[in-house]
Amino acid sequence: MQSFPAVDPIPLPAPIWLLKLLHIVTLALHFVAVEMLLGGLLLAVLFSLFRGSPSSMVAAKALARRLTVVMTYVINLGVPPLLFAQVLYGRALYTSSVLIGAYWISIIAILTLTYWLLYRFSARLEAGKSAWWVGLSAWVLAGFIARLLSTNMTLMLRPEAWRQMYSASGAGIYLPTGDPTLEPRWLMMLAGGLFIGGLWLVYLAGRSTFTADEKSFLAGAGGKIAALFGVVYLVAGLWAAGVQPEVVKAGLHTHWLYKFAGFAGYGWLALVAVAVLLAAVAGFGKLTAGWVGWAGVLVGTLIEIMLVVYRDGVRDLTLLSKGFDVWDRVVVTNWSVVGLFLVLFVGGLGVVGWLVSVVARASKVMEGAA
Ligand code: HEM
Repeated sequence: MQSFPAVDPIPLPAPIWLLKLLHIVTLALHFVAVEMLLGGLLLAVLFSLFRGSPSSMVAAKALARRLTVVMTYVINLGVPPLLFAQVLYGRALYTSSVLIGAYWISIIAILTLTYWLLYRFSARLEAGKSAWWVGLSAWVLAGFIARLLSTNMTLMLRPEAWRQMYSASGAGIYLPTGDPTLEPRWLMMLAGGLFIGGLWLVYLAGRSTFTADEKSFLAGAGGKIAALFGVVYLVAGLWAAGVQPEVVKAGLHTHWLYKFAGFAGYGWLALVAVAVLLAAVAGFGKLTAGWVGWAGVLVGTLIEIMLVVYRDGVRDLTLLSKGFDVWDRVVVTNWSVVGLFLVLFVGGLGVVGWLVSVVARASKVMEGAA
């Protein structure tokens, strides 16, 4: 029996390759922000426990202050890939979203609460009050949102599970069970958080708003954390790749298009290994030079792009093996709208770049004194 709902008769308004490209770019940026949030928050909570160590408290406050801004990027960079994913994979994604509907809709409320807790966490730290339990609550909620997203993104690939879930309840109150890919995928995002969070500290070590002692603390702690959790991230990634169905693994080596995604998987492995080495050198050598931090930013971003390309291949091949071909859609490109969209997209990126440059040029306040 056909599991996927019928295709929407309205044709796609832009070429599939363009929608996919935009999806990959925006999702990779969403992942960078998500990893900064998940990792940076947990690290800030841990640092805030050492109230007797001035450097540790400066690190906790520096991260907490930035996390409210990072959250805006998590959300705003999450919306575009959601729209592109719905356009491309709507028949699968809408179905899985409805099946876990109660949880899916609750993300909005959980997100709002998490955001509020982030502000409370930062404010309590600035006021010199105990704040770890506030930060930890925010982290647990953010981790739960990540879990729900992993759940939906894997359930959309399992049409064989949908009918039984819907028979059990149409109210969207059950979460699916029995998917071997869910656990490693979620753990990978959590470990990736500490890995990217560590690289973020190495980047901060190069900033002129910290004293020499604080810089050396940030580079030492950040480098070691990134090196350690880079290895965990790598192992979780290999686990997530290893539990994919055989047809997907084979497709990543043989399918003319998705071989490219297979290569991205190897690229991901190589780049994580490079980042682990860089982080270990920065951590044990307490390197605070600006270029080390920027190298970490570059490698970290490339790692997320590779991951998203690989993940895209896994999704398409899994769906293809179940009769859903993402490329099999009627396209009637509305070039004037596509053109307008691209102009606004580039303009929007320009405005963000300008905002970043204004922040970079603003007069600096030493963070420990702030
Ligand atoms: C605290 C907030 C958030 C966290 C921790 C988070 C985390 C994650 C994680 C872990 C994934 C990967 C799931 C997987 O494939 O295993 C993901 C994917 C995704 N997130 Fe977020 N997210 C957050 C907020 C948002 C928001 C607010 C939106 C949109 C409005 C969003 C949109 C998406 C989309 C569309 C995907 C997957 C896209 C795809 O596979 O095509 N996220 N997120």
